[in-house]
Amino acid sequence: MENSGELVHIGRPKRSKVRREPNPKRASRGKGVYIHTFGCQMNVYDSEKLALLLESDFETLDSPEDADLILVNTCSIREKAEHKLYSLVGGFKNLKERNPDLLIGVGGCVAQQEGKNILSRSPLVDFVFGTHNLSEVPNLVARAQSGVTGQVAVEYRDEWEELPLAGKGGRASTFVSISRGCNKNCTYCVVPTTRGPEVSRPVAEILQEIRLAAIRGVREVTLLGQTVNSYGLDLLPRMKFSELLELVAEIEGIERIRFTSPHPQEIRSDFFEILENNPKVCKHIHMPMQSGSDPVLKAMNRNYRMKKFYSIVEGVRAACPEVAISTDIIVGFPGESDSDFEATLEAMERIRFDSSYSFAFSERPGTKAAEFTNQLPLEVRKERLARLQALQDQHTQEKLDSWLGRETEVLVDGFMKSAPQRVQGRNSQNILIHFDSEYDDLGPGVFVSGRITRASRYTLHAERIRQGVSNEVPSR
Ligand code: SAH
Ligand code: SF4
Ligand code: F3S
Repeated sequence: MENSGELVHIGRPKRSKVRREPNPKRASRGKGVYIHTFGCQMNVYDSEKLALLLESDFETLDSPEDADLILVNTCSIREKAEHKLYSLVGGFKNLKERNPDLLIGVGGCVAQQEGKNILSRSPLVDFVFGTHNLSEVPNLVARAQSGVTGQVAVEYRDEWEELPLAGKGGRASTFVSISRGCNKNCTYCVVPTTRGPEVSRPVAEILQEIRLAAIRGVREVTLLGQTVNSYGLDLLPRMKFSELLELVAEIEGIERIRFTSPHPQEIRSDFFEILENNPKVCKHIHMPMQSGSDPVLKAMNRNYRMKKFYSIVEGVRAACPEVAISTDIIVGFPGESDSDFEATLEAMERIRFDSSYSFAFSERPGTKAAEFTNQLPLEVRKERLARLQALQDQHTQEKLDSWLGRETEVLVDGFMKSAPQRVQGRNSQNILIHFDSEYDDLGPGVFVSGRITRASRYTLHAERIRQGVSNEVPSR
């Protein structure tokens, strides 16, 4: 569905003003909000902002059962993501029956695209908010509580929304958005519609948010943007992404900087230099390739060709031989021939990505590629995806096996689900590492050196050698 970007604010009072009696059970324990997040890191980041915006009135809950407010932050990148919204909301029916005061709000990328259609498709939903309207959510909630129904707030904004900075204390790692939207218009992608044109966040605000996070114990920050390395091109004076990285690296307490996702088109020599010279910049690049075939890249409107992609990979590896490279790949794009697909497999053989996220092409309403007449049958897409994923599994396993016996520095970020006494974390290459023994003095925010003892699927196992560079987590 096309989003016109026009202002849509619909709110009509209920016909009969129903007096709501406070539920004594709920009143005694305060109100609770459950936020369900689909999609990418940007949505995770936005959901945290929603929790902060509402925190004076709502405690954040881990499950929906006792909630007075449920917010669903949606994703529309692929078709399945959208179906998930409607089946999730359908499952809340019994909660609404049990608690007629329960409100359900839907935000994020599906909300941005579908707007008021969500209200007609799912009568359980009380209000809808778009990707530029987070700061309006407390008002939408208050109005819904007073009986206003059918509210939809999905207008775009030119400026950055004012939102609370920094989140909870006591964790090792956090996301920070540095730009919003996308100007690239890849033919398959909804993001330029759901998030609007690219806008860089003011540098002072980014640095302030990271400083606050560092004071609360965060040691690692992941900078977020759809094409994160085009940061600053719209600022006056212009700022290079590498300059921003230098400024972030100066913040006391921040020991690691990650970013996702750099776009190959905007990678220049300063990118290789900072990777080589700044020890805080992690040795992991997630750089979406999408396809290994030039004609498919062209049809996707990805403005680079494989020659450039290979030269970036070589440049990154020359600057930093330890680097891990991951990617995104779409298979079964309209018109992708057998030989185009083989070219993708060949590119994978040549580059040997440490890991990849791969997807069968999904026609998204409003995108150019959805209108292409040379769509491939679903079975072909699925079959290619399975072949590609099997190849990636081999490469991932080879890469993990190559760590056996090596020493690596891990930032502990939490405890293992299967063994809550044991810590887990990630190394600079972003590999998940489990510690095989219990260590009482290790917790989130601590750096520790480990020797790799074992590689399982997607995970390495380590024994501790010594504690690393930073071991204090300031309490809030
Ligand atoms: N901005 C990022 C990508 C964000 S979307 C970038 O360009 O690097 C995350 C991934 O979803 C994309 O890299 C792409 O591989 C996949 N994707 C996006 N639209 C898709 C579609 N219509 N069908 C299948 N996969 C898609
Ligand atoms: Fe989508 Fe392309 Fe923008 Fe990434 S760069 S968000 S794939 S339009
Ligand atoms: Fe999904 Fe929107 Fe992110 S479509 S991937 S939540 S930008």
